[in-house]
Amino acid sequence: MSALLGNYARAPVTFVRGEGCYLYDDAGNAYLDCIGGIAVCALGHAHPAIADAVAAQARTLVHVSNLYHHEPAGTLARELTTRGGFASAFFCNSGAEANEAAIKLARKHAFRRGEPERTTILACTGSFHGRTYGALAATANDAYKVGFGPMLDGFAFTPFNDVAALEAAIDERTAAFIVEPVQGESGVHVAEQAFLERARALCDERGALLIFDEIQCGMGRLGPLFAFESFGVRPDIVTMAKALANGLPIGAVLIAEHAAAALQPGDHGSTFGGSPIPAAAALAHLRVRDELDLAEHVEHIGNRFGAMLAEIADAHPDSYATPRGRGLLWALPVREPRIASQVAADLRERGLLVGTGGGNTLRFAPPLVIGDEEIARVREKLRAPFDRLRVTRAL
Ligand SMILES: Cc1ncc(COP(=O)(O)O)c(C=O)c1O
Repeated sequence: MSALLGNYARAPVTFVRGEGCYLYDDAGNAYLDCIGGIAVCALGHAHPAIADAVAAQARTLVHVSNLYHHEPAGTLARELTTRGGFASAFFCNSGAEANEAAIKLARKHAFRRGEPERTTILACTGSFHGRTYGALAATANDAYKVGFGPMLDGFAFTPFNDVAALEAAIDERTAAFIVEPVQGESGVHVAEQAFLERARALCDERGALLIFDEIQCGMGRLGPLFAFESFGVRPDIVTMAKALANGLPIGAVLIAEHAAAALQPGDHGSTFGGSPIPAAAALAHLRVRDELDLAEHVEHIGNRFGAMLAEIADAHPDSYATPRGRGLLWALPVREPRIASQVAADLRERGLLVGTGGGNTLRFAPPLVIGDEEIARVREKLRAPFDRLRVTRAL
């Protein structure tokens, strides 16, 4: 029996090595990785530039805490804020922590402006923002909350992509509206342009901050570095994590100038946040993104990936419904209720790793460096599992 806590339903496979879009298990089997550590391994596995940056940084400086300055975090903050048009960056270790910081910042921002009653954090139905108490309170799915109550006060939900409901929901008590431009966990739902545009206007009119949770859909997954660039709507705060350092633990909150003074010394912090090794890895990631022109690549390859899934759904209408997604974040809904995990397990046995998502979907978040050869393999693997499931049931 494993000594690991039983809080994950881990698949019965042990990986020992990765390279590019492939993972290898302890028996030497290869798997085409179309979930990428849940939207983390944007450059693929064991990328030499990341490995070199980590090794060089490990030999130079590993930790000093946030009592002092160090070069990798300072440079990363400058790179991210310049590229995104923000004033300041706060670094932490994960997505949930990035959202915690954003939520705290939003409340403190209102407090410092003399509006201590402006405390509501408004989120969307279908949202997922993480497992810590603040992030969990902003997460819509009640299944994640059962037995963990009481939840934090001051969180409310409005239907995703419903402009009229949003008009009624943002008011003088709203500190911030937090939204994923593309919801990942709920089964890949893309925000409508009009919804995000109206959210921007309403937040401006009514004095609330607009937070985009780009933890899953950002860092180039939709093509541009930031998901908001793909929608042309600029938030006041962006939260990032997952792919930022291509597998090293780091989260970031990027903050516009008018909100950046909300947190002052002593207001918030993290011992490890933005420590030298993950920061160096994130800088290497940004450099390789530029060299490979991944923004351009993802726009094209993402369309081809989506077209491949649509082709599969068309060819197997009894098995799959129409795929949803953008860039390289896609969901393929499985028609027969509650079997998406079974289909994913079946695909894994045949060498293709996919995730699952809400609404009985298969989820795809492959490395952004995926090419046409890998897409052809995914197509080939996706064609077969239902035949096998049907055979299994018939026996
Ligand atoms: C949109 C979004 N926000 C927040 C999180 C939480 O990130 P982490 O698991 O790093 O805490 C996730 C993780 O899946 C996510 O997809």
